[in-house]
Amino acid sequence: VIDIRKLYGQTGMFTYDPGFLATASCESAITYIDGDKGQLLYRGYPIEQLAENCDFMDVSYLILNGELPDDKQKQDFDSLVTHHTMVHEQLQLFMRGFRRDAHPMAVLTGLVGALSAFYHDSTDITNPRHREISAIRLIAKMPTLVAMAYKYNQGQPYIYPRNDLSYTGNFLRMMFATPCEDYQVNEVVERALDRIFILHADHEQNASTSTVRLCGSSGTNPFAAIAAGVACLWGPAHGGANEACLQMLEQLQAEGGVAKVGEFMEKVKDKSSGVRLMGFGHRVYKNYDPRAKLMQATCKEVLTALGLENDPLFKLAMELERIALEDPYFVDRKLYPNVDFYSGIVQRAIGIPTPLFTAIFALARTVGWIAQWDEMLSDPEYKIGRPRQLYTGSAVRDIKR
Ligand code: ACO
Repeated sequence: VIDIRKLYGQTGMFTYDPGFLATASCESAITYIDGDKGQLLYRGYPIEQLAENCDFMDVSYLILNGELPDDKQKQDFDSLVTHHTMVHEQLQLFMRGFRRDAHPMAVLTGLVGALSAFYHDSTDITNPRHREISAIRLIAKMPTLVAMAYKYNQGQPYIYPRNDLSYTGNFLRMMFATPCEDYQVNEVVERALDRIFILHADHEQNASTSTVRLCGSSGTNPFAAIAAGVACLWGPAHGGANEACLQMLEQLQAEGGVAKVGEFMEKVKDKSSGVRLMGFGHRVYKNYDPRAKLMQATCKEVLTALGLENDPLFKLAMELERIALEDPYFVDRKLYPNVDFYSGIVQRAIGIPTPLFTAIFALARTVGWIAQWDEMLSDPEYKIGRPRQLYTGSAVRDIKR
C-alpha cells in the first residue's frame, strides 16, 4: 500500500500490485477456483461433474444464465446458436486480404474485430437484448471462423455449417470435410473435443478475461472487446502455452525423447537457460490443475480409440510429469501440469494442426469472455477500468534551448 500524498501531494492510498498478485479487479458469480485444493467450479458445479455429465452447449448455457438448462431450454438454446452459425459472405473477401501462411490467431483477431462491421445491429451495449444477440452470435460464429482460418491456410474451399450436427460435430466437419469427401464424425473424438471446450470455457479473471473486461469497460462493442481477449490469449504465458508445449515435446522427441528428459529438466531448472517446462505452473493453482487430470484421461481415451496407445509424445509427457512431481524444484514452487500440458496431444491426435490450438482455446473461452463482459455491464455501478501507476520518471523540468 502506497501513501500517495508522498508522491503527488494528493490524499488517499492506493495499492501497488504489478501482475495483480493480490488485487481483485471485480466481483463475479461465474467461476470459482480454489488453487490450494485444485478445485474449479462453474456456477457452483465441479468441473469433473460438468465434464462427465454435460456437453458444451449445457455448459455455455450455464455460464451465461447461471443454471443448467432443462430439456426445453436446451433445445431452444441449441436452435438459437445453430441459427447464427453462418457468417456474412463478405467476410470471405475480408479473409482474402490475409497471407495464407498467417498465424490463425492473427487471422482470428482480425475476423472477430471485423464482426463489429458486419453485425452493428447488435452493438448497443445498454440494450440487454443486443448484448444477448451479440453473445449468441459470437458463440455460434466462432467455430465457423476458426474452420475458415484453417481452410484458407490449406487452400481448400470453406465448408458451410450444417445445423443438424452438434456444435462440436459441426465444427469437426467444417474443419475436415471437403467438397469431394464428407467427414464422418467419430464419437470418441467429438466427445473429447467437446470436453476440451468445456474445460476451457471460463477461468475467472485470467489475463484475457481481464483484458475483455477492461476493454469492454470503456463501452466499446462486444466484438471489439472479444477481439482484445483473443489477442491477449495468444501469448505463450497464457493460451499460446498449448502450442508452445507441443513444440517443446516435439523438439525433445526429435533430440532423443525419454532418454533426454533428465538433461532437459536440468536446463529448465537453470534460470539462465530461459527454458520453462511449458504446460506447467499456474498463477492460482498451487495444487494439481483439475483440468489437467481430466485432459490426461481424455488423452488416453482418444489415443486408445484411434489406435495410438504408443504415442511417443504422450509417453514423453507422462515421463516429464513423473520426474517433475518428484523433483524439489517443482515441488517447492508448487508447479503442476496445467490444462495445456495434455490438450495439445489430444488435438494433434484428432488431426488439428499445432498453430490452430490457441484458436480452439479462443473458440471455447468466448463463452466465458462474453458472460464476464455481460456480468460487468449488468452491474449498474460498473466503472471504466483505470489502473494507477507508480511514476518513476523525471521530476518537472524546463526546456532549455
Ligand atoms: N517451468 C520452470 N519454472 C517455472 C515454471 C515453468 N513452467 N513456471 C514457473 N516457474 C518458476 C519461476 O521461474 C519462479 O521461480 P523462482 O521463484 O525461483 O523465481 C517460480 O516458478 C514462480 O513462477 P512465476 O513466473 O513467478 O509464476 P507466475 O504465477 O507469474 O506465472 C505462469 C505463472 C505464467 C503460468 C508460469 O508458471 C509459466 O510461465 N508457465 C509456463 C507457461 C504455461 O504453461 N502457461 C499456461 C498457463 S495456464 C493457461 O493460461 C491456460
